[in-house]
Formats: sequence, structure tokens, C-alpha cells
Amino acid sequence: MTRAPKILVFDSGLGGLTVLAEVARLRPDAALVYAADNAGFPYGALPPDLLLARVVAVIARLVARFEPDAVVIACNTASTLVLPALRGKFPATPFVGTVPAIKPAAELSRSRLVSVLATPATVARDYTHDLVRTYAAHCEVTLVGSAMLASLAEAFMQGEEVPDSAILAEIAPSFVESGESRTDCVVLACTHYPLLAGHFERLAPWKVAWVDPAPAIARQTDKVLRERQGFSAPEPQVPAVRHQAVFTGDAEPSAKLREALRARGLECVSVEPMPLVVA
Ligand code: DGL
Repeated sequence: MTRAPKILVFDSGLGGLTVLAEVARLRPDAALVYAADNAGFPYGALPPDLLLARVVAVIARLVARFEPDAVVIACNTASTLVLPALRGKFPATPFVGTVPAIKPAAELSRSRLVSVLATPATVARDYTHDLVRTYAAHCEVTLVGSAMLASLAEAFMQGEEVPDSAILAEIAPSFVESGESRTDCVVLACTHYPLLAGHFERLAPWKVAWVDPAPAIARQTDKVLRERQGFSAPEPQVPAVRHQAVFTGDAEPSAKLREALRARGLECVSVEPMPLVVA
């Protein structure tokens, strides 16, 4: 295939930008569309049936509009629930999901005390519990459902003041001591959280490995493009490609947000209003 691949990166808000950055690094030849369903944010607070219907409806609209070669669901809360439905409904489109990186964390941990920091919905999912059972049976896994962190990350990206005390209150339950041992790996199981990585490093009561699956998701996206969609690896010198961002909320993105998006190569920003309807 000689044309540039088009990749849609989807999240409830700005968290998927942490995945977009890795995808852009690995596929500099790709045209990226970043789609934030901010009208539905936060997904972590939506009941599963509503979330499933919502994501399928929004993706239907986005796939029809952008005709992407691959879709990255850059959201753990959605991926742990909706991937089978999306793959069933759009069989011609490859979907790459983002699920809690419990397997690599369990392999990395020396203390065998691993924490999974995620939205309350992700920690409640059967999918997450299955990952723990399958890959981390030899570890003591603490699931931490944070009600506030994704919103704090959004506020940070909008240039708002985010108090350290608010962030620390959310991450503190991830730090567990048991006898002589303490947590040495914390899985960032919500794509919003790496946006606050600097805060986490600074506020952590002790040093841990923060496990972020974004590089692995980018590798999987590249693999899907090559093996399923017939694209070759990017040439060493690729022409500059234009990227864009689209939001489902009807408010115009703020100047601060546009600036943050521009810094990530997302020059063109539009809104495609899709109000969340709660029956
Ligand atoms: N970024 C999303 C995730 O990875 C969740 C944020 C939300 O609650 O909408 O889980």
C-alpha cells in the first residue's frame, strides 16, 4: 500500500493522547485522527449497558466519517467492555484495545505487591479480574478504583491548578506495605493517568515502576497495519502529515486546550456534537 495509513485514536477525553503520542512515534507516516467523546466523559461513571451503546454509536459515526485503516480504543474503561461488540459490528475495521497491563507488571514485580490504578468501572470489570487470575496469581494485587484522577488529568490539560493533595489522595491506596515488602509496580490502567506522570513521580511515598501500556499498544497498531491492512513499515524519511482532533461535546475547545493539542501535532480541531442521552 503506498498511501499513508489513517488511524483513529479514541477515548472519552484527553487520556488517549498518551497513546496517540506512542502511535505517532512508531508510525510517523500515519494521518492521525484523535476523537474524544467528551460529551460522554467520564466513562468510569457510566453503567456498562449505557457505555456499550454509547461507544458503538459514537464509533459508528466516526468510522463512517473518517474511514480509518485501524481504530485504537485508547481507553481501558471502554476496551474492557466493548471490544467484542465493536469487532462484531465493524468486521472490516481492525480494533486495537487498551487493557490493564497486569501481565507485564506481574512479570516485573520483585516484591510481588502490584497495584492497579484505574477508574472504578475498570476495577469492577470481569475482564480485569480475569487478567489478575490468569497472569498475577503469584502476586498480591491491589485494585484501586479512583473516582477523581481522570477529571484531575483533564483539568491539568486545560491549564487549571490541580492541588497535589487531591492527586495524592487518589494514588495513596496504591502504596501497600506488607511485612518487609512494599508495592513496587503500579499499573496505570487508565490512559489519562500518564498525563499526570510528573505529579505521580514527585508525590509517590516511595519509588515504584509505573507501568504504562502505551508503547505496546502502538506496536500492536503497527502490526495490525502491516499484517492485516497491507501497509509497509514507514520509510526513514516521511513527508509531514496533518493530524486532527474531534470532540463530541458542543463547547468549543479552549485556547489552552488547543495549545496542548497543537503541541502534540493536532493542528485542526473540530466538534461533532453527540449529546449523551441517558434514558
Ligand atoms: N481514559 C479512560 C480509561 O483509560 C477513562 C477516563 C474516564 O473515566 O472517562 O479508562
